Amino acid sequence: MTDVNHPPQNPENPAVTEGEELSTAEGEPHLSFAELAQSGHAPTPLDPDAEPVLSVENLKMYFPVKSSGLVRRTIGHVQAVDGISFQVPRGGSLGLVGESGCGKSTTGRLITRLYTPTAGSMRFGPDQVDLAGMSNRELKPLRRDVQMIFQDPYTSLNPRHTVGTIVGAPLEVHKVVPKNKILPRVQEILEVVGLNPEHYNRYPNEFSGGQRQRIGIARALTLNPKLLVADEPVSALDVSIQAQVINLLQEVQREFDIAFLFIAHDLAVVRHFCPEVAVMYLGKIVEIADRDSLYGHAHHPYTQALLSAVPDIKSAGHGRRERIRLEGDVPSPINPPSGCRFRTRCPMAQEICAKVEPPLLQIGPRHKVACHFAGEIGRHPTTPVTTGLLGVDRQGSPDPAVTPQPVGTNPGYDKHWFDLDSQQMVSA
Ligand SMILES: Nc1ncnc2c1ncn2[C@@H]1O[C@H](COP(=O)(O)OP(=O)(O)OP(=O)(O)O)[C@@H](O)[C@H]1O
Ligand code: SF4
Ligand SMILES: [Mg+2]
Repeated sequence: MTDVNHPPQNPENPAVTEGEELSTAEGEPHLSFAELAQSGHAPTPLDPDAEPVLSVENLKMYFPVKSSGLVRRTIGHVQAVDGISFQVPRGGSLGLVGESGCGKSTTGRLITRLYTPTAGSMRFGPDQVDLAGMSNRELKPLRRDVQMIFQDPYTSLNPRHTVGTIVGAPLEVHKVVPKNKILPRVQEILEVVGLNPEHYNRYPNEFSGGQRQRIGIARALTLNPKLLVADEPVSALDVSIQAQVINLLQEVQREFDIAFLFIAHDLAVVRHFCPEVAVMYLGKIVEIADRDSLYGHAHHPYTQALLSAVPDIKSAGHGRRERIRLEGDVPSPINPPSGCRFRTRCPMAQEICAKVEPPLLQIGPRHKVACHFAGEIGRHPTTPVTTGLLGVDRQGSPDPAVTPQPVGTNPGYDKHWFDLDSQQMVSA
């Protein structure tokens, strides 16, 4: 068995432990991700009563597009994130999935305030302070509480700095421990993430990919954050290493009660790590639900298409998962389609879809979906479920006989929701 603190050295590269990728933490077997999911590593459970650590409401990020030439004028905007609302429960994790370019990383960068949002609020912590409008000075103490793990362990670590400098930098910047306590704290954290604490004076290029991502995790943990934004934390790693790193993240989440916004492409990884999942398309959340509802009873055609492409998920749930191939490319976020942004690729699109944007409608205790024809997946859609709420007719034209009802941007879940079967509001 490998001693994690004093592992055998690789003669070619003394910082890379021989077989490290096979067994970094003591007794941790070499598992593929699918095996991990079926081993004793239980999926992260849902705590429906947990208070939110973060409430995001109507968040927008529009990047200006400039003309070329000497006088650079703004000629449009990339609507990278366009009015999204969600909550991350304390100590829990929300998965954020969707195709490349849908706005996942921008969302993560907004929450960590690497970007200043165009609009919206991001209420954080028990006092619900709004991170969105804060100045850098106001943000400084809060930056300790919200940290980020980056996708690429090769480019996110400065090659000219030692591991000790990289992991210890946040401690120095925020002056949370005296200078002579930085090294012991760094070594403690390196041990927590399964690295040899004596390797603090080595450089990132002396480590393997999995070890480098552990360094990135150590850096994010040094300040005891309450919320970690993990942007594709395992997608640059081999499948077998992914399982180890996910397992490590689960352990630190439990041990330190850290909430995660977990951004990923891989729906199998997200299912394992996240009890709740939001699906993004072209800057919008199109479906958000607890794990069982999303993976077993998805109601948005886009979610259905994503799930149908994953072999070991395809067979779960309703058993209706034929592979759904989406036609065409994702449209430009500079000039997105009118109405429902998914309509140019949706096999169910009707006239109303081009005219009216479907609201994110709550359809279960922990399930929301933005589709006029939610509930008609796999059938020829006939009756929009949203007409009564929006005050429009079946074609999406205003209907004077119907009074629109407010469909809010509540980041959490209400006690009442629209039941698709009875077509009525019901409550818990
Ligand atoms: N700084 C920026 N300036 C202008 N446009 C940007 C900027 N950052 C991102 N974008 C654009 O915003 C959209 C969303 O990008 P983002 O990186 O958030 O997507 P993503 O979902 O993380 O994609 P991926 O899965 O490829 O990482 C894309 O169209 C992207 O080109
Ligand atoms: S609203 Fe219309 S276009 Fe959008 S997902 Fe639903 S059916 Fe498809
Ligand atoms: Mg990204």
